[in-house]
Amino acid sequence: MKPPRSPAARRVLALWRPAPRGDRFHTAVRWWTAPFAALEQEVPLAGDVLEVGCGHGVFSTYLAVTSRARHVVGVDIDADKIALARQAAAHLEPGEADVTFRVSPSGEVPRIDGGWRCIVFADVLYLLTRERREALLAECADALAPGGLLVVKEVDTAPPVKAKAAQLQEVLATRVLRITDGDALDFPSAEELQGVLDRLGLRTMAKRLDHGYLHPHCLVLGTRPAEPSAG
Ligand SMILES: C[S@@+](CC[C@H](N)C(=O)[O-])C[C@H]1O[C@@H](n2cnc3c(N)ncnc32)[C@H](O)[C@@H]1O
Repeated sequence: MKPPRSPAARRVLALWRPAPRGDRFHTAVRWWTAPFAALEQEVPLAGDVLEVGCGHGVFSTYLAVTSRARHVVGVDIDADKIALARQAAAHLEPGEADVTFRVSPSGEVPRIDGGWRCIVFADVLYLLTRERREALLAECADALAPGGLLVVKEVDTAPPVKAKAAQLQEVLATRVLRITDGDALDFPSAEELQGVLDRLGLRTMAKRLDHGYLHPHCLVLGTRPAEPSAG
């Protein structure tokens, strides 16, 4: 668990102050429990960045506030969360950050001319079946610019005790409290995710981001080759 220490983190969470108490609480909990500060460091400082499954938009907004040269688009299947993300972003000062939000159906990845410099997932892929997850990652790999980066943050399946506790929390969020939408609950390991990105032809690496956290956060990065590979 880590508090929002930096001025940028505190600024971003303050944007949700006028939101209903439950949403304010949810966004604060997301910050304390997800390694957003470390994750931001993995995202290129400039260019078009897409966050798929942005939820209330805290991480997308943080990406935009930490670098004005990032043009950030957050998409989600949940129209209520996108409405909240837009309301919060409306409190940004003119020119403070470039971030927009829109609803996008499951499995669809918005396309832009030249492709995305970076596409980010933060705790989304466990909400899809393995088949749909792989299809979505393939769409994303295809939507990247040459040299573009896919950043996938999930909760790993190891170590088992930490993983089971995190999975139980997600069962509660999706099935009991119903605060998270999704097609399924199927937790991928970092190894599985890296294997998928390898097979898609991306250059991959995996890291852990769980130092100081209760959840076994993991990160898988995949870079699209800059030039078509020979053969
Ligand atoms: C645990 S929340 C994470 C939200 C945000 N990324 C964050 O880190 O705070 C998971 C989000 O994924 C969204 N989601 C689930 N399935 C999705 C899909 N197929 N495509 C896009 N978003 C999806 C949910 O609506 C929810 O907002």
